[in-house]
Amino acid sequence: MTDAEVLAGRVLDRLTASGELTPAWSAAFAAVPRHRFIPDTIWIADGAGLVPLHRCEDPHEWLQRAYASAAVITQVDDGHPVGPGERGRYITSSASHPGVVALMLAAVDAQPGMRVLEIGTGTGYNAAVLAHRLGAGKVTSIEIDAQIADHARRALASTGYPVTVITGDGAEGYPTHAPYDRIVSTAAVRQVPYAWVEQTHPGGKIVTPWGTPYHNGALVCFTVTSDGTAEGRIVGDVAFMRLRGQRFRATIDDDQCDETTARTRHTTLAPYCVTSEYDASLAIGMKVPNCAPIYVPADYYPDCARLWFIDPITGSWANLVHRPDTSTYPVHQSGPRNLWDEIENAYHWWCDAGRPGPQRWRITVTAAGQQVTLTTTSTVAQPTA
Ligand SMILES: C[S@@+](CC[C@H](N)C(=O)[O-])C[C@H]1O[C@@H](n2cnc3c(N)ncnc32)[C@H](O)[C@@H]1O
Repeated sequence: MTDAEVLAGRVLDRLTASGELTPAWSAAFAAVPRHRFIPDTIWIADGAGLVPLHRCEDPHEWLQRAYASAAVITQVDDGHPVGPGERGRYITSSASHPGVVALMLAAVDAQPGMRVLEIGTGTGYNAAVLAHRLGAGKVTSIEIDAQIADHARRALASTGYPVTVITGDGAEGYPTHAPYDRIVSTAAVRQVPYAWVEQTHPGGKIVTPWGTPYHNGALVCFTVTSDGTAEGRIVGDVAFMRLRGQRFRATIDDDQCDETTARTRHTTLAPYCVTSEYDASLAIGMKVPNCAPIYVPADYYPDCARLWFIDPITGSWANLVHRPDTSTYPVHQSGPRNLWDEIENAYHWWCDAGRPGPQRWRITVTAAGQQVTLTTTSTVAQPTA
């Protein structure tokens, strides 16, 4: 047995034991050699950013990472590193965590013979797993980055998986091969493109990571109905890079975030309540648009961190310092929005609503746009966003 086969066997055992890998996908997982899709240069964190790891320099480490319980970063900053010392800052392509691949495939629920469109080809690995189960000519995959698409085409050809890889913007789907039984996106959206609904058979499914700027971490499974509507439920907790046209990048600009000119108040709502509780932060994201949290550990005090909330569109920001030894936190707010007030109100709304979890949210997509509603246990109740 080669080292790669040993490592692949361990991944298979781990995912089978945890129940993440369903029997339907187990043969495809076992057959597709993940390392043959991983480019020779991958990126790893060094504390100051993302640095390249070249296979030729450390083949052992490269192979370990190809089969680790983690995503493998395969591109940074759209191919042009922007961080200090040519480090990468943003992850712009990766081979997803094997557990997440398994979770998404289970949600996609594709049967042999079905036609599938994948958005975000990346390495081509997920497309190969799909093609192994669905058969020749059934999988189309679209990738926006030409170099990444070329790599995937080569990897798929050399491993013998017949996938059509298109270079283009997956937000438009790929009408030439439509209609599809399933569309699966491996890039996250804030708004589901209606083209995906139009290109899916009635009764078919769309599976995509979905989120708000505040909370990027829900896997949503939509069913398309004959009247051209897609009804979605949250079926998992995943965080993906966003579709290129739907990125939301919030950064802290030290020159503009001047606390001395900001509005100041105090709060007793602990910062971790609004960021670390999955259900709360999901709900806050539905209520507070265009606002992203940024957590900055503070090295001057143990267990202390500064939490920022940024709306880059209006230039509004709020911050507060989390300290473990206090129950009152000073808050600074600046710009046309009082972001902390909005967040606090949304948190209290969520508590008053009975602290709803992900299973209570529904996302509906029609030609007119996307609507998010909170249901009671059985019926749709309150429109929110
Ligand atoms: C998480 S990676 C995909 C992982 C991939 N499925 C695999 O098995 O390796 C997300 C990919 O989506 C691509 N992407 C981002 N925006 C896109 C868009 N609008 N259309 C098509 N691909 C896009 C990125 O370039 C990136 O390669």
